[in-house]
Amino acid sequence: MYHIDIISIQPQLLTGPFDHSIIKRAQQKGLLEVKVIDLRPYGSGKHKQVDDYAFGGGAGMVMKIEPIANCIEELKKHRSYDEVIYLTPDGEQLNQNICNELSLKKNLLLLCGHYKGIDERIREHFITREISIGDYVLSGGELAAAVLVDSIGRLLPGVLNDETSALTDSFQDNLLAPPVYTRPAVYNDWAVPEILLSGHERKIKDWQYEQSLERTKTRRPDLLE
Ligand code: ADE
Repeated sequence: MYHIDIISIQPQLLTGPFDHSIIKRAQQKGLLEVKVIDLRPYGSGKHKQVDDYAFGGGAGMVMKIEPIANCIEELKKHRSYDEVIYLTPDGEQLNQNICNELSLKKNLLLLCGHYKGIDERIREHFITREISIGDYVLSGGELAAAVLVDSIGRLLPGVLNDETSALTDSFQDNLLAPPVYTRPAVYNDWAVPEILLSGHERKIKDWQYEQSLERTKTRRPDLLE
């Protein structure tokens, strides 16, 4: 079973995303296990402090080294991780290749940051990989962690059936997916492309490939380079 632990100071943000649809089913089928670990109990002192002022001033609050280090050390006593991933806007940008690659691992530990980031020494000594979900800043790593879990979870063998197979997703062959239609065949004079109703499997496949290519050329020419 694939296992993902997520360290967070806002575990409530992660109560919803994994309890529905495909990721819920993956867990019910015993193919995936996701656990959210609250960092707060690892905080320092009476107030369980997890952040502090930045040395050198400015920059706002920084997440402290001890709570995170203690939490990671504790988790590592029970499990060995293939990757310890920090979600951060300055990480490598997530794409389908990275999702595919990570789906072949077994145990991941994800660390969600907050405030102005985490003490750099955590990144140097504990983190094996840093991932961003795009060039914009979220208020914390939790939503990014949810994106990562979802994009990995759906790739695990047995999670999707043939019809929803991840092999036909956009990006799997560096092409965007073709347009899709369902009933009714005509709505308000707007007809579905005739070829799709022809039953001509080979021609339909060709048409879909043409559409994928066209769509990629106009919307994401960078994928074709
Ligand atoms: N934390 C804050 N912003 C983020 C982003 N864009 N990707 C990953 N983690 C983040």
